[in-house]
Amino acid sequence: MSTDAPFAPHPAPPTVAPHTVRTLTDPADRRRAFDLFLGTLHHGPITDDAWEAHGQAAEEHWLGVTDPSGAIVGSAYSFPTRLTLPGGTRIPAAAVSGVGVRPDRTRAGRLTALMRAQLRAARDRGDVAAVLRASEATIYGRYGYGVASRGDHVRVTTGATWRPEAPAGGAVRMLDPDEATALLPDLQERLAAHRPGGMTRSARWWRRVLRPAGPSAGEYKGVAVHTGTDGVDDGFVVWGVSEGDLATGATDEVRLQQLWAAGPAATAGLWRFLTGLDLAGAVIGWVRPLDEDLDLMLTDSRAHRVTGRGDDLWLRLLDPGAALSARTWGPGDPVVLRVHDAFLGDTGTWRLAGGAAEPAAAADPDLECTVDALSAAFLGDRSPSSLVAAGRWSERTPGAAVRADALFAVPGPAPWCGTFF
Ligand SMILES: CC(C)(COP(=O)(O)OP(=O)(O)OC[C@H]1O[C@@H](n2cnc3c(N)ncnc32)[C@H](O)[C@@H]1OP(=O)(O)O)[C@@H](O)C(=O)NCCC(=O)NCCS
Repeated sequence: MSTDAPFAPHPAPPTVAPHTVRTLTDPADRRRAFDLFLGTLHHGPITDDAWEAHGQAAEEHWLGVTDPSGAIVGSAYSFPTRLTLPGGTRIPAAAVSGVGVRPDRTRAGRLTALMRAQLRAARDRGDVAAVLRASEATIYGRYGYGVASRGDHVRVTTGATWRPEAPAGGAVRMLDPDEATALLPDLQERLAAHRPGGMTRSARWWRRVLRPAGPSAGEYKGVAVHTGTDGVDDGFVVWGVSEGDLATGATDEVRLQQLWAAGPAATAGLWRFLTGLDLAGAVIGWVRPLDEDLDLMLTDSRAHRVTGRGDDLWLRLLDPGAALSARTWGPGDPVVLRVHDAFLGDTGTWRLAGGAAEPAAAADPDLECTVDALSAAFLGDRSPSSLVAAGRWSERTPGAAVRADALFAVPGPAPWCGTFF
């Protein structure tokens, strides 16, 4: 992209103080950085066995911002992932986590320095995007991240009955930790290939979930797989249980940790199983995909209550040209889109036409947006029209947003990441 006219609804990035950002390769430094991060979340340090079991991995990229004394006072790391785009192409991306700045060193530009170093390094490595899950919605927009998918928090009453026409068939079987370790990573990778926003997970991610160490090692964890009528595994669920209270009459509740399904039959099969569990009053799901239409399948549609909605994946395009050409586009009249990236100092213009995105630096834009606001439409979560209506995109040519709606529209599964990292 070239640098040209400014277009920055976000305040200009702060002048970054000369903070020192270091790549951390020594496991002892990484552990210090991780403990620092845990502290910023108000957690105690990681235990020895948890650090040994799944503290860090060779393929990760760890950064620390250090004080003049050399002490690490800010941290961030990423692991390589592949992110599914509309149409099924997977792009290389940096999955960012472990972001924190020591409370006595905040609001002085240290995160800004970390983000700049991390995004540049990821782009230099060839990552087309960076992704993360945000603790707060106000932090990452200034660095070019935007919410690319959302999900519903749901509460489904156990014992709910299913309409006779709801998808049925298939079978659910429970897995022990060895079986889950052998089966789930490949199954999730296969299922995530069919949903925009789906991402591949690292071996460490799976170890941490299926073989927890430290305080959560002894907690109950249920794992089950759904097999379709064709004999192929097509969904799985991992859940824990929160204990009720005999004194108040509060029942135990099933807490979904993950539930992936290839389609409605697997979705219904797994939810039927969960809502049929004994000794639990409800199944609680958090950031479920927006197209998980359980209310349409239940006799009492109110047995499925949406209790809230939250952001799922935050996406930051590092190479918008590569990303725009990697996804598929709907049919429709062409539009010229200009994308501004104030944080990395880039601007680029593309013509979306004939199912492709071509660079068009000399063309006048029909639509303009910042790179963070592009994320909202990029996987199909929001339409260009709604982004223009909200003031997040600018329409230069009347009618261009409606034309862009047709191009950006994504048939099939709603975008959803479904991985917390
Ligand atoms: C979020 C956090 C990393 C920010 O670090 P920091 O070093 O204070 O960030 P910076 O000084 O670089 O701030 C950059 C800008 O973001 C703003 N900002 C940072 N954190 C913010 C927050 N939590 N809410 C609102 N604004 C925030 C700053 O005010 C500053 O604004 P400006 O550009 O207008 O001056 C730090 O507050 C923290 O560790 N929080 C707790 C852990 C956490 O939430 N980590 C993120 C996990 S996803």
